[in-house]
Amino acid sequence: MTASTSHLIAPHGGKLVELNAEPERVRELKAHSCQWPSWDLTARQICDLELLMSGGFSPLTGFMTQQDYEGVCHSMRLQSGVLWPMPITLDVKEEFAKTLQPGSSKIALRDPEGVMLAVLHVEDVWQPDREAEAAAAFGTTSTAHPGVDYLLNKSYPWYVGGRIEGTQAASHYDFHSLRFTPGELRAEFARLGWRRVVAFQTRNPMHRAHVELTFRAAKQVEANLLIHPSVGMTKPGDVDYFTRVRCYQLLLSKFPQGTVKLSLLPLAMRMGGPREAIWHALIRKNHGATHFIVGRDHAGPGKDTNGKPFYGPYEAQELFKKHEADIGVTMVPFNMMVYLEDQGYYVPDNEVPNGSRVLNISGTELRERLNEGRDIPGWFTYPEVVQELRRSFPPRHKQGLTIFFTGLSGSGKSTIANVLMTKFLEMGGRPVTILDGDLVRKHLSSELGFSKEHRDINIRRIGYVASEITKNGGIAICAPIAPYDGVRKQVRSMVEPVGGFILVHVATPVETCEQRDRKGLYAKARAGIIKEFTGISDPYEDPKDAEVVINTADLTPEEAAQEILLHLEREGFIGVNGSHG
Ligand code: PPS
Repeated sequence: MTASTSHLIAPHGGKLVELNAEPERVRELKAHSCQWPSWDLTARQICDLELLMSGGFSPLTGFMTQQDYEGVCHSMRLQSGVLWPMPITLDVKEEFAKTLQPGSSKIALRDPEGVMLAVLHVEDVWQPDREAEAAAAFGTTSTAHPGVDYLLNKSYPWYVGGRIEGTQAASHYDFHSLRFTPGELRAEFARLGWRRVVAFQTRNPMHRAHVELTFRAAKQVEANLLIHPSVGMTKPGDVDYFTRVRCYQLLLSKFPQGTVKLSLLPLAMRMGGPREAIWHALIRKNHGATHFIVGRDHAGPGKDTNGKPFYGPYEAQELFKKHEADIGVTMVPFNMMVYLEDQGYYVPDNEVPNGSRVLNISGTELRERLNEGRDIPGWFTYPEVVQELRRSFPPRHKQGLTIFFTGLSGSGKSTIANVLMTKFLEMGGRPVTILDGDLVRKHLSSELGFSKEHRDINIRRIGYVASEITKNGGIAICAPIAPYDGVRKQVRSMVEPVGGFILVHVATPVETCEQRDRKGLYAKARAGIIKEFTGISDPYEDPKDAEVVINTADLTPEEAAQEILLHLEREGFIGVNGSHG
């Protein structure tokens, strides 16, 4: 018997939207879909579509039309007058937009494998002013804000609005037992007899401060607790959700039995601070929550280029308070929790007794401690959580790394790279791969020449392979010329999120390289037999961001390799005998 859900909080706008079409209709839509243009959804759009289809975004019934969008941007209201703070739009390429007919076109919305997830009935097609949208939704046009960066640099410039009919739910193969749609969560609350539910949004691993905070919040408003982490897109650089979810699962036993529920939310966050807090609460209301915790710097995007936070620490709470009646969810505001060292417990920072010594560890500090394999104290987090985090974030001497040499032909890159490889093999512990310029040109890039375009493709390929090796805990030693700064930086940004990246500039002057001319290439370049030869008839941009600079006029290959090893040791990438942190 299913329990009645009538006593639960009403969804936003009054009715839980459910956009999945009936099987008969799905068959019909699929049969017609071969006539319609297809749009391959981006990762963000897949998240948005999933919450549209499940009713997590009730009362929205599709991607916003222009009127809804304008209303949301300017006054946080849909055309119907209902409060809604965040634009939910389908961004597409201009060429695609221009093929559409508002009022008659239908689009097959497809996942990366080409499966049609939904049909969009096109009502509006327009080119938005994305700068104005950024200013309205995020209060800034600075691309240091991740939401603005996405909007201005990553989203497509045209929007398509219209009603959605769902044909297939987005597929997930992970954490099945923790994924609940609004309807399922509501049914679960009804079954459990939960009337008051306080939801906690998070994009970080939870530590003792969070457990204390959520437990206090639940007690304060006499509600059950819904831990509702975002597992769609979060802030770049965040701990991956697989690790986070394993940590959340470990924490469930810290709460009184039967008082807490963990459910994963496929939400693509925008890091929009105050507006995002309201949006988060509306989504939780749709999932059956009556209360919502808003802490310090809710959905904060970090700092601007001058080091100033984009929003005040409690600005989200202030905006929420102003709209609380329309939101329909009660805010449970919380200050930051800090640990009282002498008393041995947590309190909000506005309740710290005078003169007390307080302790706190920031996310950055935690990362550093993990990287260096340092102690993470029990007052900060639980040993089982530390263990889980250490599995995903081993100390630096167990992480993969890329040593990326750059320098002119004949500068000595390959020789030093080979000495270095031998040293790593002697130490043992990590597999080593060498991606030498000549080798790569033979095995990966044989069709490429030496134009800027081709050199950049070549370096991106090396970067891709190096990042995969690094991700899997190996050492990649790359030794191409890599004359261009832009693509070297791209490689760095590919590798750094998954391990160490050390740029080594082998700065042997061109005169010395030419004098050596080991392969006779300089003579050919001077004679015009080889064109676009780096240093002679093609540019080389000296790196300004090299971790190690080596001049082979002063150093032997052995000495150069030692310079690099000393740098790695100082940074913690190798320990004593390569095994100690
Ligand atoms: S790049 O710019 O990074 O893609 O170049 P890379 O793949 O490292 O180049 C590998 C080797 O190609 C030989 N070679 C040239 N180098 C530079 N310019 C031109 N036009 C050129 N033509 C051939 C050269 O031997 C490079 O190897 P190294 O080991 O650097 O001497």
